[in-house]
Amino acid sequence: MASATVLVGTQFGDEGKGKLVDYLSDKYDIVVRYQGGANAGHTICFDNKTVVLHLIPSGIFNKDCVCVIGNGVVIDPNALLDEIKKVEDLGYDVRGRLFISHNAHLIMPYHKQLDSLSESCLSGEQKIGTTGRGIGPSYEDKFARCGVRVVDLLNAKVLEEKLRDNIAAKNKLFKNIYEKDEIDVDAMVREYAEFDKIIDPFVTNTQLYLNRKIREGKTVLLEGAQGCLLDVDHGTYPYVTSSNPTSGGACTGSGVAPNHIGKVIGVCKAYTTRVGNGAFPTELDDEVGESLGRIGHEFGATTGRKRRCGWIDLVALRYSLTISGVTELALTKLDVLDTFGEIKVCTSYMLDGKEIHDFPTEHQTLSRVTPVYKSLPGWNGSNAHAKSFDDMHENARDYVTFLEDALGVPVTFISVGPGRDETVFK
Ligand code: GDP
Ligand code: IMO
Ligand code: MG
Repeated sequence: MASATVLVGTQFGDEGKGKLVDYLSDKYDIVVRYQGGANAGHTICFDNKTVVLHLIPSGIFNKDCVCVIGNGVVIDPNALLDEIKKVEDLGYDVRGRLFISHNAHLIMPYHKQLDSLSESCLSGEQKIGTTGRGIGPSYEDKFARCGVRVVDLLNAKVLEEKLRDNIAAKNKLFKNIYEKDEIDVDAMVREYAEFDKIIDPFVTNTQLYLNRKIREGKTVLLEGAQGCLLDVDHGTYPYVTSSNPTSGGACTGSGVAPNHIGKVIGVCKAYTTRVGNGAFPTELDDEVGESLGRIGHEFGATTGRKRRCGWIDLVALRYSLTISGVTELALTKLDVLDTFGEIKVCTSYMLDGKEIHDFPTEHQTLSRVTPVYKSLPGWNGSNAHAKSFDDMHENARDYVTFLEDALGVPVTFISVGPGRDETVFK
């Protein structure tokens, strides 16, 4: 059996990845985050508690599971330390079972400032609607080859040099372009030098660590953040995040090579949501959309923003499943549809009077399509009691089977509530 499984979001994020990873983590030795940063909000509900994780992998509440923050993640050290404290306060010791890649890049306060300043220069619909966590500017520095990495926190001299160089460049932007106060470089050098001893016990060459563990026969679950349609290469550019949530990103962001990957689990909501701007063909600006948001509690786990809601979109899903090579689907939040008399599924788009079946990857085109729907009957009842697929309402089973046939991928988990136990196997 291959050692590694990738779990990806197949839509615009918030598909319920956190719940699934927490649920699956007792079947894996190690869970790895491979991209994104504290823009992610992964919610886990267990023992009457609801916890939102932003950076720490969602396997942390399984005491036998080791968690790794991979080289592809961008880390705000303050956010990470707050989160470690939050997890420890819940009674889960992270020492010896949380490792952070020495190669991961840092998010500095100036990245967050630049994130909000660049958004404030865009007008209306041009705004990306970022989470304001400094994600884009930190990845910009990574690819410009001037970023500060976790390993730099462990070497005071290198850290100071890098901060002085970076801040000199950023201060030119703050002063001359944005007309803002310059950063006090000495204060920042002092503040970041303090992370050395605190972060040191967690820092490892995680690429080597993961490959050694794989050789020893351990199993790895690679946890994606965001979703395929927010991928910087494959998503609805420019309304995307600045990393690769698709399964390819799991290899570059962890150092686990493709030949170790067996399954790719795609997490998919039974409808669609999106936070932030950008095209959303099946968005519902009506009472039905409001109901989906109200019943599904669709508010961002990171920013609290109201999520835009609409029906499931098979054109977009066929595309994401192809790009990520999804081998099985986890269908989440099916319970949110329990009270709808009619459920619609978008099967194709209309573009300039012609029916199209392929997802347009160019944003201007995507924003002009209109969805073609197939209508399916609702089931007017709860599946919370279901212990197996056969226990579910017939129309709910038909909905799942319809999706499987249309997407050509089996649905292996059906989530009917936020809790660990509210999961049905198929
Ligand atoms: P993630 O970013 O993909 O981990 O998803 P989020 O945590 O941002 O959003 C998913 C939300 O739906 C969270 O509030 C979960 O607790 C909740 N959730 C997950 N699965 C289900 C489900 O099957 N039914 C319901 N009603 N809520 C769910
Ligand atoms: P999880 O992992 C949903 C969206 C933002 C914005 C765009 C770019 O919880 O599914 P960024 O701050 O990344 O530069 O913002 O991406 N976005 C998410 N939407 N779920 C997320 O993560 C997201 N992370 C970023 O709303 O539209
Ligand atoms: Mg989320």
